Amino acid sequence: MKKLFIMILTIFAIVSLVTTFSFIGCKAAPSEEVTGTSAAETTTAKETAVSKETTAAEETVEAPELKGEIEIFSWWTAGADGDALAALIDAFSEKYPTVEVINAAVGSGGAGIDAKPILVTRVQGGNPPDTFQVHAGHELIDTWVVADLMEPVTFLFDENDWREVYPGDLIEILSYNGEIWSVPLNIMPANILWYNKKIFEDAGLNPPKTIDEFYSVCETLKENGITPMAYANKGSWANAQLFEVLLAAIAGPDNYKALFNGAMRWDSDEVKETLNTMLKFIEYSNEDHAALEWDNATELVANGKAAMYISGDWCNGYFKKLGLTPGEDYGFVPSPGTEGIYIALSDSFGLPKGIQNRPATVEWLKFIGSKEAQDIFNPIKGSIPPRTDCDKSEYDAYQQYSMEIYSTSKILPSLTHGAAASEPWLVAIEDVLVNFVVTGDIEGTAAELQRVAEDVGTFTK
Ligand code: GAL
Repeated sequence: MKKLFIMILTIFAIVSLVTTFSFIGCKAAPSEEVTGTSAAETTTAKETAVSKETTAAEETVEAPELKGEIEIFSWWTAGADGDALAALIDAFSEKYPTVEVINAAVGSGGAGIDAKPILVTRVQGGNPPDTFQVHAGHELIDTWVVADLMEPVTFLFDENDWREVYPGDLIEILSYNGEIWSVPLNIMPANILWYNKKIFEDAGLNPPKTIDEFYSVCETLKENGITPMAYANKGSWANAQLFEVLLAAIAGPDNYKALFNGAMRWDSDEVKETLNTMLKFIEYSNEDHAALEWDNATELVANGKAAMYISGDWCNGYFKKLGLTPGEDYGFVPSPGTEGIYIALSDSFGLPKGIQNRPATVEWLKFIGSKEAQDIFNPIKGSIPPRTDCDKSEYDAYQQYSMEIYSTSKILPSLTHGAAASEPWLVAIEDVLVNFVVTGDIEGTAAELQRVAEDVGTFTK
């Protein structure tokens, strides 16, 4: 299945799938047709010239009534991800009651491990959802944009003055060939160590800042009969995520970047040390990790069955859903060795070509890019809004912390969550790491990582 997926993605990157589904009628309509704003402005100017008596109510030209269904594809079902999406859909439906939103979230499988191959199959079969969750960075550009499957959304940024409220570096990540290709909904770090505060207090421990401190904290916890680290690698993505956070700590930000731009070899000592450390970390975790997903691991920490879990801030949303309070019941620090580093990812939605309901989809994209929508979605999801004008008071203690470290840290692109490498490269790395956690073969794995970097580690930007 994985091989098929890699093949399909590679084909996408090389050949545009013009023949697999019809692009007829999907040429971008002039932006005035899809947003009430410009039409309203034009009419307002005209009417003012005709009669100064005209009332404001008469001046307002309603956008053409939107109708039909729109299908929103994502993998947001677990933890509080599903709740955040549901709240977003509810708010949109309230505004546009004539549009029926089909929530096409694919259950199970964090990081889109199950959803992404289904999406590819649907698009290949000529049945794309109206819009889909896609990570900013190489996942968006290398998979979908270079294959000519998306329409740019630059017009939304221009019409809504979004360049003033979205960080320039994020816009840069969403851009290719002078156009912007998706609307970002959130920003998250992958390298947070979540810990159960009561366990740490009872054991008289502080959360570990370095890898050596991590080991010594783990030893004390073990002596106290507590599983030090929660781990869940049912989907192959979790190995890649642990690998990337340890790589950032051990190799450092410059080498991390160098590995992904071809300036450093994957069979280097830094990568080997990362692999070795990864094995040691997993040894400190629950034995049933291969049967668990990220929400199960979060529960282990929430219930006091394990002391720590390293993952992204979808855990924050889930801890809260379980009734816990950030900063009181659970703590959060950068994963060992990554203070000052923010391994970033961002969920976004784009405008595929050939969709059923372009007008309503454009309105959905405009909505999710708004301050209102981002302040509904992110407080529940646990992440932070990419917009810089959001209402900070809506956000919890963890999110305030995340906003702070986002603005002060070195930003590295997440490998696992589509920002650092193309999808075929990521999938190949995940396969190598799945074998690695079984074999423990450091030399062979480093050599394999170098081989896949040479075979599929290509860049388009
Ligand atoms: C990430 C995604 C997050 C969250 C997480 C766990 O890839 O960006 O929003 O869903 O996976 O599934």
